[in-house]
Amino acid sequence: MTCSIVVGGFFGDEGKGKIVSYLAVKDKIAVAARGGVGPNAGHSVVWKGKTFKMRMLPSTFLYESSRLLLGPGVLVDPDVFLREVEETKTSSRVGLDPQCSIIEPQHIERDRGSNYLKSRIGTTGTGCGPCNEDRIKRIGKVARDMPQLEKFITDVPIEVNKAIGEGKQVLLEGTQGTFLSLFHGSYPYVTSKDVTASSIAADVGVGPKLIDEILVVFKVYVSRVGGGDLKGELSNEEADKRGWSEVATVTGRRRRVAPFDFKLARRAAMLNSATQLAVTKVDVVFPECKGASNKSQLSDEANNFIKSIEVETGVPITLIGTGPSVEEIVDLR
Ligand code: GTP
Ligand code: IMP
Ligand code: MG
Repeated sequence: MTCSIVVGGFFGDEGKGKIVSYLAVKDKIAVAARGGVGPNAGHSVVWKGKTFKMRMLPSTFLYESSRLLLGPGVLVDPDVFLREVEETKTSSRVGLDPQCSIIEPQHIERDRGSNYLKSRIGTTGTGCGPCNEDRIKRIGKVARDMPQLEKFITDVPIEVNKAIGEGKQVLLEGTQGTFLSLFHGSYPYVTSKDVTASSIAADVGVGPKLIDEILVVFKVYVSRVGGGDLKGELSNEEADKRGWSEVATVTGRRRRVAPFDFKLARRAAMLNSATQLAVTKVDVVFPECKGASNKSQLSDEANNFIKSIEVETGVPITLIGTGPSVEEIVDLR
């Protein structure tokens, strides 16, 4: 029985949604809580032929016994939240903390209307930065001010700590990636708060002593949307040729891509105190691995590549993504 944190190791979009949704079903996650920024995230969950783009709720929703919580550190856009509850039919098991900040239309206007944020930083335009700005000024609204959210309000730190105390399986889901962190990322091309494992725990109200596993997710190549350096960035033409092209979940922008960065991976493992790593999209670089669910089905090239990540980071790789669907995974735990 454990409390685990799942975070991204690069610039977001590593496939946290896929990994978390697998763990939900496999480990029977009783309580999941989202930390991280807010609806700037877009976690893809591909389950029984349907694709869900989760921006607010934990990606464990597909496991029907999973309680779905949003910690007080998470920004809530009520429209996005209510739409997602409806789409996933999870209203009876969703809860959000009374102290979650509320994204209002004016935050979205300030985000999209700012040349600096929109053009230079290349934000998602979801209002997250301006909402965090108002939180810091202590002038923004919080969830307890919103009648339409009343039935979902719960003390998230109490729920999560109680579940841990009772020995239930608890998962804290992070968003974005280590190098989009306001403090540890490539400032100023970053998001509006820290998103490393320590902050995810703090967002939800769990102290570091209670965390058993920290799983850092990498993709087999690096992707980035918005401004900022990307070492070894490929041209669009080369990305298309290799089949690495991606489109952002929330904004529909093209994701910039580059080969796997071992130095960044090592630093991400350090900054998050990783105890385990996941690598997704192995099937994209090594197509012969598509759909594999067993290590023996992976090619020597894929196994050698995975080994090299373990050697460089000093952390074991326990989960290997071999396709977008929840069940397309090699579990070495
Ligand atoms: P953020 O919180 O926004 O950073 O998102 P995320 O980390 O959950 O990643 P996102 O879902 O935005 O992007 C990952 C993409 O890769 C999605 O389209 C997934 O469906 C896809 N994906 C994840 N794992 C695998 C895999 O192992 N193989 C393949 N082919 N696709 C994968
Ligand atoms: P913001 O978080 O919308 O303010 O955007 C700040 C930076 O973080 C921009 O470069 C965005 O593209 C990036 N970003 C924010 N959320 C995500 C995400 O979920 N995936 C990938 N990039 C993100
Ligand atoms: Mg995403």
